[in-house]
Amino acid sequence: MKTFGKDIWDKKMREQGELGVIAGIRAKKKQISRDANEILGFFDKEVRPHLKGNKAVDIGVGPASRFLIGLSKRGLIVDGVDISSLILDEAEKKAKLAGITSSRFFSIDITKETPRGKYDFVFCFGTFGHFPGYTALDVMRNFNKILNKKGVCMIHFWKPRALGLKEIISTAVYDFMRFVKLKFFKKTYLVSCSFYTKEDIEELCDRSGFSLIKLEDRPGYFLAVLSKKSQ
Ligand SMILES: C[S@@+](CC[C@H](N)C(=O)[O-])C[C@H]1O[C@@H](n2cnc3c(N)ncnc32)[C@H](O)[C@@H]1O
Repeated sequence: MKTFGKDIWDKKMREQGELGVIAGIRAKKKQISRDANEILGFFDKEVRPHLKGNKAVDIGVGPASRFLIGLSKRGLIVDGVDISSLILDEAEKKAKLAGITSSRFFSIDITKETPRGKYDFVFCFGTFGHFPGYTALDVMRNFNKILNKKGVCMIHFWKPRALGLKEIISTAVYDFMRFVKLKFFKKTYLVSCSFYTKEDIEELCDRSGFSLIKLEDRPGYFLAVLSKKSQ
């Protein structure tokens, strides 16, 4: 069973729509935009002071273009990259509706290729964990390749699940619902999900030519801000 690639994301978009693609079918629109504002607040505080230019790229931009729009409204010129052209069409529509006309959109599998040109800021939220684990280092090296010498990169990494009673029950309920959907509706998706510890992230950075500026430890995930290692 293929758990990654263009087909699974096209299928998710067709069958689950925007919310399903961004955060699964339990996602709520209000929560998604609240989360985006909070993440953009982190960008204002922890990334913006380090930026030396305004050329940015959102990797795995998603159908709502929520970060591309937020970053563009902050004065950046943001390109959108996504593996699914169906999702990319939606992303472009949403950006235009929000009055953003400076963005370009590229249909690219970032585990294999990169957009042409260089950026001052590479942003990747909710997406890195969906790259199969064996591609993680290639992706980090691709991020490094498209980053200007003094550029900054911000990546969201899922943490391994905590082993608390609440998490165990919630995972069991989630798995049971997936079982029901698979059995009776034949509609569930096994999308590749990789989790990273602090040490994994440090090692990935080291091997791909990045230094960590900040690693914020949050419930369920890390937010990493990286710069290129000085040679
Ligand atoms: C969970 S969604 C997150 C979307 C967006 N970043 C957001 O938070 O609203 C993951 C996105 O990554 C894209 N994606 C998955 N694998 C990819 C790959 N190998 N290269 C580029 N984009 C990819 C999917 O098509 C999807 O739009």
